[in-house]
Amino acid sequence: MMLSDKRIVLGVSGGIAAYKSIEISRRLVDAGAFVSPIMTTAAKKFVGEVTLSALASEPVKSSLWEDDDPIPHTTLGQEADLILIAPATAKLIGTYASGISGDLLSATLLATRAPVVLCPAMHTEMWEHQAVQDNIKTLRERGVVIVEPEDGILAGGDVGKGRLAGVESILSSVEHVLTKKDLADLKILITAGGTREPIDPVRYITNKSSGKQGYALAKAAYMRGADVTLVTSMPDNVPQGVKVLCAQTAKEMGDAVMGNQEGFDVIIMAAAIADFRPAEVSDHKIKKTKGLESLELASTHDFLVDLGRGKKSNQTIVGFAAETEDLEKNAFEKLKKKDLDLIVANNVSLPNVGFSHDTNEVTIMSEDSKWTLPLSDKRIIADGILDAVLEIR
Ligand code: CTP
Repeated sequence: MMLSDKRIVLGVSGGIAAYKSIEISRRLVDAGAFVSPIMTTAAKKFVGEVTLSALASEPVKSSLWEDDDPIPHTTLGQEADLILIAPATAKLIGTYASGISGDLLSATLLATRAPVVLCPAMHTEMWEHQAVQDNIKTLRERGVVIVEPEDGILAGGDVGKGRLAGVESILSSVEHVLTKKDLADLKILITAGGTREPIDPVRYITNKSSGKQGYALAKAAYMRGADVTLVTSMPDNVPQGVKVLCAQTAKEMGDAVMGNQEGFDVIIMAAAIADFRPAEVSDHKIKKTKGLESLELASTHDFLVDLGRGKKSNQTIVGFAAETEDLEKNAFEKLKKKDLDLIVANNVSLPNVGFSHDTNEVTIMSEDSKWTLPLSDKRIIADGILDAVLEIR
């Protein structure tokens, strides 16, 4: 998440979930945002003001009257890039929807033109009450982004819908609202992860790919407004807002990509697709006592070649090249051989580069340009790759 130089007003109203606002504040500050916290009087009954003051970028404000600033609500409202309300109680939602400015938080909400992300949390009966649902509908129609509460255990041990959404999903919504949508109108297909080629029902051959670079690409593309589909062998924790197709083997990945590719403007092949598979797959588990002296392998089909050759007009095809020597020479040969628009090459023998790491270092090449991205977080590399895609389109 990258929120450098963004000013965020974090409004905390009085519910049990107020304790989660502390973690949210810390994560926003870690991502580079300047966080101005506002607590309602009731919020202070649930969580310590000192803790939030210490973890935000400035002390908590609560009152319209006690500050040196005679108009704290307009100052906060006008300077904010975004207002995040987490948690939002039924009372706060009702006050805001009705346009009432009873305290510093509700006054700030009216005194701003910044986008508002609102995260309700309350008991199921309250959340489902028609009055609350009508207010939520009104706010949605006015452009407020609502991060829906989740199902789960509520205060007092009850179970149902009403829990504050998870921190990740709240942060993802904030980032989405604040990110420039320079990839809007683009449909992007991204492959991620190492494929798994079965030997028998319990064993397979795979590689070191963790899928992290492909996932980072999917997240970055979604944040920048693209319509993103991820074809992955590792369908856990898929970034919010991204459609998923699961494919385990090179064949399944090939079918998923080739069967869907027509409608996509950009296809980015970050997956580490197996070059070899066991020639025969045993229907039953191969018993140790029976032994397995050798394993016959067959080549898989390289469908990136088909994609490049059969490229639709205005389609951009991006391949990856994992190399351990002659990085640029080998990668450029792959670019030409597979008729690609871009190739992203990394030297996976360097420390902290490529497979399994959170960081990467890549050289991106087109037929006549080159971009070198130094060792950085895979998310930054992802944005660099997407910048290169935009530059050549
Ligand atoms: N790829 C593919 N189908 C395969 C193998 C690879 O579509 N059966 C794609 C990968 O997703 C990647 C690119 O081809 O985008 C390059 O993969 P890489 O393994 O680096 O190169 P190979 O062409 O397989 O050559 P080598 O393994 O010999 O380096």
